[in-house]
Amino acid sequence: MENLINLVNKLQRACTALGDFGEGSSLPTLWDALPTIAVVGGQSSGKSSVLESVVGKDFLPRGSGIVTRRPLVLQLHRLDEGREYAEFAHQPRKRFTDFAAVRKEISDETDRETGRTKQISSVPIYLSIYSPNVVNLTLIDLPGLTKVAVEGQSESIVQDIENMVRSYIEKPNCIILAVSPANQDLATSDAIKIAREVDPQGERTFGVLTKIDLMDKGTDAVDMLEGKSYKLKFPWIGVVNRSQADINKSVDMIAARRREREYFANTPEYRHLASRMGSEHLGKVLSKHLETVIKSRIPGLQSLINKTIIELETELSRLGKPIATDAGGKLYMIMEICRAFDQTFKEHLDGIRPGGDKV
Ligand code: GDP
Ligand code: NA
Ligand code: MG
Repeated sequence: MENLINLVNKLQRACTALGDFGEGSSLPTLWDALPTIAVVGGQSSGKSSVLESVVGKDFLPRGSGIVTRRPLVLQLHRLDEGREYAEFAHQPRKRFTDFAAVRKEISDETDRETGRTKQISSVPIYLSIYSPNVVNLTLIDLPGLTKVAVEGQSESIVQDIENMVRSYIEKPNCIILAVSPANQDLATSDAIKIAREVDPQGERTFGVLTKIDLMDKGTDAVDMLEGKSYKLKFPWIGVVNRSQADINKSVDMIAARRREREYFANTPEYRHLASRMGSEHLGKVLSKHLETVIKSRIPGLQSLINKTIIELETELSRLGKPIATDAGGKLYMIMEICRAFDQTFKEHLDGIRPGGDKV
């Protein structure tokens, strides 16, 4: 049975590839209905570091200022064995095994859309990573929230970024990964501020606390990690990413993960929380949660998908010989994915309700 997260990935990519489907189509609704996880936080809060730790690879562009200027839809696919590689949706036939080249391609593709200015664009970049070291998971990296425009940026950029971030996280099916640095007051966290706006009860927000190692001597993050400073439905997860000095010294990710584990296990304040701290734990929790959310949405998604299949069939028969045209080919591809979806959903529902009994 195909993995549900991967199937949702395919459908998301297909919906986006098709672009504007026209008035009254179900496709945009379908896209909105697909559960996603979006990473939000202020600039330099540690978003890129968290993503790289979850993946276990260096592959994101770095630097000060606004580095992420387009959404990056990062799809992780777990391989049972074999060598890890990456692929971009905009270069479907090219396999990257050198992750420094992946980083360069993200920057280049950002520049292609935004024209090397420091402007932002809401057109996503799709990157898939296939590896034995990842969990099945899709994460959307968004530009960091900021307070002031810098040289070369329009005055509206602060608001533009906020609007773009909000357009993703306001969807009820979006799981919010809110990244806040532990060395700043949570009350001033950009991530918490915007997450609270769209999810006031904290029902779909995962709080991630970075830079725990950088807190002032004599202070600790226990209250924050125990949810006493800001309460969310899910437990807060603390991480210790590589410092800038570590990155400059090229400390590798495996060593960094090991050091992170040791940090929580050996610091007396955090020892009692150690089993639910760290980037590896974060990856597992998110993967499991995403799968649970997708499963819970199956009935609704299934009816949307059946509606979409009917629409696509109508559109295809109207087009006549569809496969010959680019649009027709894409419609056909989406329909095939929808059919695969429908089939997988049926199998899952059978699995959930043996003998077809009511749940
Ligand atoms: P982003 O702008 O939110 O993507 O933040 P980055 O991931 O680029 O991190 C900004 C800076 O903070 C980098 O120099 C990181 O090395 C550093 N950093 C991030 N997380 C941690 C952490 O947990 N501990 C330490 N010491 N440094 C961190
Ligand atoms: Na940033
Ligand atoms: Mg970043």
